[in-house]
Amino acid sequence: MFITIEGPDGGGKTTQMNLLVPALEKLGFDVVRTREPGGTPIGDQIRSVIMDMKNKSMHPRAEILLFCASRAQLVEELIRPSLAAGKIVLCDRYADSTMAYQGYGHGLDRDLLKTLLNFATGGLKPDLTILLDISAEAGLRRRITNHDEWNRMDDYALQFHERVRNGYLKMAAEEPERFVIINADRPKEEIHEEIVSILRGKI
Ligand code: TYD
Repeated sequence: MFITIEGPDGGGKTTQMNLLVPALEKLGFDVVRTREPGGTPIGDQIRSVIMDMKNKSMHPRAEILLFCASRAQLVEELIRPSLAAGKIVLCDRYADSTMAYQGYGHGLDRDLLKTLLNFATGGLKPDLTILLDISAEAGLRRRITNHDEWNRMDDYALQFHERVRNGYLKMAAEEPERFVIINADRPKEEIHEEIVSILRGKI
């Protein structure tokens, strides 16, 4: 089963992944954890180019192609082989992030993006997507109070992050059978328990 965790910045995806992996392992599942951009040695090199605060002049089209390059490598090197071996793959961000950030956030042509994402993933879609939903303002505030490392993507304007959030909600409404929306503006233990109970039902 291929599960992705998505959502605006500051929704606590990493915290939830940290809680979820041992919880699933305790239930007896063989879990592979990964993240985007990155997840492979080549992907990690691409990630540092994308995140670098020195690269402020990066054009959104260049940004997309870098995200897609990292993803293509991750799908072939890690995700497909792990799924073929019967493991659960848990991925922190995937193609929906590109649609939300580059499509809805930057306003790039979403039909074109769909074609590009299909090319990058070889058509591999998640079985289940957990959307940790939080308002742009609350999410960015949380990143600041947690002293999370501030990267080039965080530096986009608040309105950009609002478009991202609304984009996610729209995508979830279009594919209700794949998405589960979780209110992420709550204590982390509460969110964790909700995710585990949903996953127990689905796996
Ligand atoms: P990261 O530090 O991994 O943040 P988070 O913990 O919120 O996932 O940074 C990833 C950033 O890159 C985040 O702002 C979302 C953005 N992003 C895109 O814009 N498009 C994409 O396709 C992906 C995968 C991420």
